Amino acid sequence: MAKSPSFTCTACGASHRKWAGRCESCGGWNTIVEEAPLSAGPGGRSLATRGKAIALTDLASAEAPPPRAASGMEELDRVLGGGLVAASAILVGGDPGIGKSTLLLQATASFARKGLKCLYISGEEASAQVRMRAQRLGLADAPVALGAETNLRDILTTLDAERPALAVIDSIQTMWLDTVDSAPGSVSQVRAAAHELVTFAKRRGVAVILVGHVTKEGQIAGPRVVEHMVDTVLYFEGERGHQFRILRAVKNRFGAADEIGVFEMTGAGLAEVTNPSALFLSERDAPAPGSAVFAGIEGTRPVLTEIQALVAPSPLGTPRRTVVGLDSGRLSTILAVLEARCGIPFAGLDVFLNVAGGMRVNEPAADLAVAAALLSAREDVAIPPDMVLFGEISLSGALRPVGQTENRLKEAQKLGFTQATLPARSRTGGAEGMQVREMADLAAVVGEMFGA
Ligand code: TYD
Ligand code: MG
Repeated sequence: MAKSPSFTCTACGASHRKWAGRCESCGGWNTIVEEAPLSAGPGGRSLATRGKAIALTDLASAEAPPPRAASGMEELDRVLGGGLVAASAILVGGDPGIGKSTLLLQATASFARKGLKCLYISGEEASAQVRMRAQRLGLADAPVALGAETNLRDILTTLDAERPALAVIDSIQTMWLDTVDSAPGSVSQVRAAAHELVTFAKRRGVAVILVGHVTKEGQIAGPRVVEHMVDTVLYFEGERGHQFRILRAVKNRFGAADEIGVFEMTGAGLAEVTNPSALFLSERDAPAPGSAVFAGIEGTRPVLTEIQALVAPSPLGTPRRTVVGLDSGRLSTILAVLEARCGIPFAGLDVFLNVAGGMRVNEPAADLAVAAALLSAREDVAIPPDMVLFGEISLSGALRPVGQTENRLKEAQKLGFTQATLPARSRTGGAEGMQVREMADLAAVVGEMFGA
């Protein structure tokens, strides 16, 4: 029976039965395209005839963890979960121009210098251009094989002959298979190409890194279309106008998700930032109302960030709520709690909230720092510059303790902070010398710090 055509959203990969102007799943406009049905091949063979199922205890890897290769770029190795796992497939997504090619060229050179056989295949630039970039980055002497190719069949043949330990494909949207009847970058091509490469990685023990551009327009498939096929999904993020770049693991079969690596884009490529807290706080001005320092945890590492708030009378009927680097729903919740539980209204006031340095904070533990920044801005009272805050706010206005309190306090102390405001019943052992204020609820914070 012939399969009916299906429709796929190029932004989020959701399947739809019919075409629509707007994807119900991600809300994107004009992102849905028709996908040619895959032809059914001749009957498959069962696992029993091709080989046999293996008992888990028989696998050699039951004793040894999968071997990992470290690049020596610590920020990258940590995000990967301790290094590159053989035969794994990794997706590196990000906006065009954010620095993916730069990062991967530097990473490939580092792996190559550690003795790994590496192949960097660019579908976007000619080999000479990649070499020029490598020269500019001071990597011209690294033993990396370069290729400029978009025909996946040729690439797979090369990989099979060369058998490198690592192959970088930059980018997956430029690759095409002659068996798929649509243009490079279409959902079908991107899916089929990624599938071929991932299957090859598993069969031949080659680690592959796929680069994927996050796309805004409809006809080009975005990296989310292949997220489910790979072992590890990393996103390279950064705010326009900021030098900082954050490599964030959103899925990792071989390590912790939520881990981040921090880089700075310089004239000579990406430099690792080993102490991000110091960097994110370095832009802090003199103590001003509306600024609160949040002691957060990103993956396994404590990271301090500055939360900035501005509250001003609104000329509009519906006041503005502008948020950068935080969840806007979270801001609404905190504003509602401040109003309902502490009697502090924000009606008629524009609220702007921002995480300094282009960082994104996803932890609920940031609630208290956000509330403090908002209160500080509204009451025009500066928070002591040597104080960090953290804690989750519940709808009742109570403060809930959060994980890794000791690590947060230790990092704060290391950076010269001497006071911390946090939820009551937190485990604060090991923070001697730090003045710790434990607060049961938000109303207590308002009373103690802002006298309102
Ligand atoms: P690139 O790695 O080409 O981005 P992507 O592959 O994600 O599209 O990076 C392009 C940007 O990086 C470009 O705006 C210039 C900047 N850049 C530097 O600032 N310094 C450098 O050494 C390099 C190589 C790039
Ligand atoms: Mg690129």
